[in-house]
Amino acid sequence: MALRPTLGQMWNVGKYSWRYFTDTFSERVSHTPLSVGFVITYKCNRSCEGCYIKSIVKDDPELLKLDMDVDRFVEMLNHKSIKNCFRVPLIGGEPLLHKNFFDFVEIASRHKKLVYTFTNGLLIERHKEQLAKAQLDTLRVSLYDDVLEEQKRNVKKLLSAKPDYNVYLSTWATPNKMKEVERAVETALELGVSGLNIQNYMPHSGGKDLNELNLLIWEDDAKTLDRLQALKKEVAGRLSLTLPVPIPRKGHPAQCICLSTMLYVDKRGLIVPCPGIWPPKKEYGNLLGEEGWNSTFMMEFST
Ligand SMILES: C[S@@+](CC[C@H](N)C(=O)[O-])C[C@H]1O[C@@H](n2cnc3c(N)ncnc32)[C@H](O)[C@@H]1O
Ligand code: SF4
Repeated sequence: MALRPTLGQMWNVGKYSWRYFTDTFSERVSHTPLSVGFVITYKCNRSCEGCYIKSIVKDDPELLKLDMDVDRFVEMLNHKSIKNCFRVPLIGGEPLLHKNFFDFVEIASRHKKLVYTFTNGLLIERHKEQLAKAQLDTLRVSLYDDVLEEQKRNVKKLLSAKPDYNVYLSTWATPNKMKEVERAVETALELGVSGLNIQNYMPHSGGKDLNELNLLIWEDDAKTLDRLQALKKEVAGRLSLTLPVPIPRKGHPAQCICLSTMLYVDKRGLIVPCPGIWPPKKEYGNLLGEEGWNSTFMMEFST
């Protein structure tokens, strides 16, 4: 999908780029986010071990009542704090479970946004025709070994309905899951998708489960990082492979730009700047409130 940016979007990205290249981000961010992810549902048709959404829903089942509605979606898209964003990820839970999923895609693309979504791909078959027609910039299918064959069948059907579909695959890696990562690479090559994204594990126990630390790929884990680099070399020219950002023992990952570019918002208008500290909370700010994304938390967090 070609994006024809509005003047407001171009002006906003100009402000961001100026701050970035002159390294002059101030406490109060003058540009607005470039990407705004809408949590359209917390519901899911799976229960993957290790999923951070499953874990927060277990702690707060009330989240399951927060399906986005169309009026609220439009209200937020037009809000001064985010109307100039470029990209609108529709996230969940399982986004394809939402009855208005295709309305959200249509509305966001009418608002000149690049729309993408993460899905487990199990409902592709049911929505194949609509998916083929929708103005989705990218469909990301996260692979899960126990349903891999079904996922492959579904992606094949979608690609045969629309061969130039921008489908990416996704998986999260841990140091002891390299076999699964290799299988994901084979799957991506077999399906001929646009690329494969390998993410680092996202801890979500708030420090209660120290075993989570062993699931992360750390900056000094030479064995895992070498294996990943070797894989990337092996498939160079055949597959666009994005590797996980390794975690430094101290401070933020060097490539982390979440705080100055991204925002996630749910039906309540509550925000979170970074997927590492889910879910959106009152303490982080309310998009629909006076402060927009310059909440006290955001300003303290980004300085
Ligand atoms: C929460 S899911 C929601 C979308 C959809 N249900 C899916 O599975 O793609 C979004 C992405 O987060 C990934 N994910 C879930 N829990 C994770 C974790 N603890 N660490 C890293 N990635 C995780 C999923 O594999 C998926 O790619
Ligand atoms: S399909 Fe996605 S949201 Fe559902 S449990 Fe698995 S990772 Fe979590």
